[in-house]
Amino acid sequence: MNKGYLITFEGGEGCGKSTQIKLLSQFLKEYNFDYILSREPGGATFGEALRKILLDNKSDIDAKTEFLLMSSGRVDHVEKVVKPALERGQIVVLDRFYDSSYAYQGYAGGLDLKDIKYITDFAAGGCKPDLTFLLDISYEDGFDRKARDENLRNLDRFENKDKEFHDKVRLGYLEMAKKEPERFVVIDATKSPEEINKKIVKEFLKRYVQLGKKNESTEKSVDL
Ligand code: TMP
Repeated sequence: MNKGYLITFEGGEGCGKSTQIKLLSQFLKEYNFDYILSREPGGATFGEALRKILLDNKSDIDAKTEFLLMSSGRVDHVEKVVKPALERGQIVVLDRFYDSSYAYQGYAGGLDLKDIKYITDFAAGGCKPDLTFLLDISYEDGFDRKARDENLRNLDRFENKDKEFHDKVRLGYLEMAKKEPERFVVIDATKSPEEINKKIVKEFLKRYVQLGKKNESTEKSVDL
């Protein structure tokens, strides 16, 4: 078991992950939880360099190359950022982790899930999320949101893939969530940000307390 606590956020394009991570982070800060935020691809210098290549519309790379790049960035990120923080007992909140590889390169990209598992187990080095929030959204609703948000209008290489690809990403995520119901919390991402945040905080606190972990918010039973 992790000494710390690993929370990951997953979902398709325009699902509102960034907003929810910001809101959860405000809660964690307010109640003095010891936490860090990070992301994939990225999170450490090497991964951030890879992120630029991976998201660049000019990069002409297939799913296998994508997956191996994502995985090498993951090794560096896990070893330099995630594992040390968990060892220190911190909460680590990740904007995407290996479930994204299963969804994007496996279910949607067509790579064999057994190959993904083999390399992911190697790359993640035993790091497994304690809790994963899947913000579930349809292709139409996700891209609708992007179209309305000025900051999200420039589409990257993944966002530019077609509806069929993104539909497969969504179904892949839902299938993974079905296989691991104790780890995944599936959230309807069309609900209001406040409503979603309440659910996220509630689910997090419930599980955190169940593990016997404590904090001033769990002691005071925060009014949600
Ligand atoms: P985002 O962080 O803005 O959501 O963008 C990252 C993109 O990278 C997103 O479209 C999903 C994609 N991705 C993969 O395809 N595989 C992976 O393993 C990870 C971590 C991300």
